[in-house]
Amino acid sequence: MKKDFLTLLDLTPEELQALLKRAAEFKSGKDSSACPLIGKSIGLLFNKTSTRTRISFQTGIYQLGAQAIYINTNDLQLGRGETIEDTAKVLSRYLHGIVIRTYEHDTIVTLALNSTIPIINGLTDLHHPCQALADILTIQEKKGRLKDVRMAYIGDGNNVVNSLIEAAVLTEIDLVLACPHGYEPDKAIYEKARSKGAKVKVLANPDEAAKDADVLYTDVWISMGQEKEIERKKKKFEGYQINSRLLSLAKPDAIVMHCLPAHRGEEITDEVIDSPQSVVIDQAENRLHTQKALLEMLVR
Ligand code: CP
Ligand code: NVA
Repeated sequence: MKKDFLTLLDLTPEELQALLKRAAEFKSGKDSSACPLIGKSIGLLFNKTSTRTRISFQTGIYQLGAQAIYINTNDLQLGRGETIEDTAKVLSRYLHGIVIRTYEHDTIVTLALNSTIPIINGLTDLHHPCQALADILTIQEKKGRLKDVRMAYIGDGNNVVNSLIEAAVLTEIDLVLACPHGYEPDKAIYEKARSKGAKVKVLANPDEAAKDADVLYTDVWISMGQEKEIERKKKKFEGYQINSRLLSLAKPDAIVMHCLPAHRGEEITDEVIDSPQSVVIDQAENRLHTQKALLEMLVR
C-alpha cells in the first residue's frame, strides 16, 4: 500500500530514525552512485513560491535517478476548475509520486485520498514536515543528540512550528514556544502532541523561553498567503525578535535556526543570523539529504 507524508506523524519514531540514518549516509557521499528511483517520474505541484523546497527536491530526484516534473498548479487544468479528485486519479497513472505546496491542508488530504501514489507535503498553511526532517537532522548533527535538547521557538505559531511540535512527539526534544497572544500554534496539533507525551509547552515570555536553550528557532512573522495582516501583526510581534540580547540568555553554545527565507531586521537580526552560532545554511542543505531519504522510503 502506498504511504503519504502529509504531516510528520505519518512516520513512526522508528521510521524517522531510519530516515535520519539514511540521510546521513547520502550526505556522507558514501552512496552517491545509488539510483533507487531510476526511470521514475515525480511531479512537483506548487502554487506558492519556493527556493529551497523546489530546488532541493528537483536536485535530489535527479540524484536518485528519477526525473522531476515541476509545474505551477495554475498551469494545470486544476486552475480552470478541474477537480482535485480527477487530477489525482489521472496523475496517478503517469507519476510515481507527487510533492505538493499549496494553501489549504485539506487540498493535499483530498489529493492523497484520491491518488494511488505517495503524496508528499512540500508545505501547506498548516504543516511543513519536510522542513522538520531537515531541522531534526541538523540538531542531531550539531548537538550530537535529540534527547532533552531544549529548543525554543520564538515567533509566529505557523506551519513550521506545527511540524516542530510533531517532531517533539517523535523525538525526545524538549520544545518551548513563545508566541504572541492570538498567534499560538494550531490548538489541535498542540493538544494531540501533549496527549502523546511530547515535551512541549507554551510560555508567554520570549526571555523565559530563550533562557538556557540549546537551540533558538524562529520563522517569518508573515507567512505566504497572510500578506493582508502585515502592519497589525508586526506590532504584536515586537519583543519576539531573535537578537543578540535574546541569544545571550541561551546556553553559550546554543545554535540558531531558521527555515529561511528570513526577513532580516524583523524576526531575526543580521548580527544573529550571520553569527557563528547560526546554522541556517547547514539546515537548508539538510533539506536535500533528508528528502532523498524520504523519497527512497516512499516511492516504489
Ligand atoms: N524553507 C523553505 O521551505 O524554503 P522555500 O520556501 O524556499 O522552499
Ligand atoms: N512559514 C513560512 C515558511 C516558508 C518556508 C511560510 O509559510 O511562508
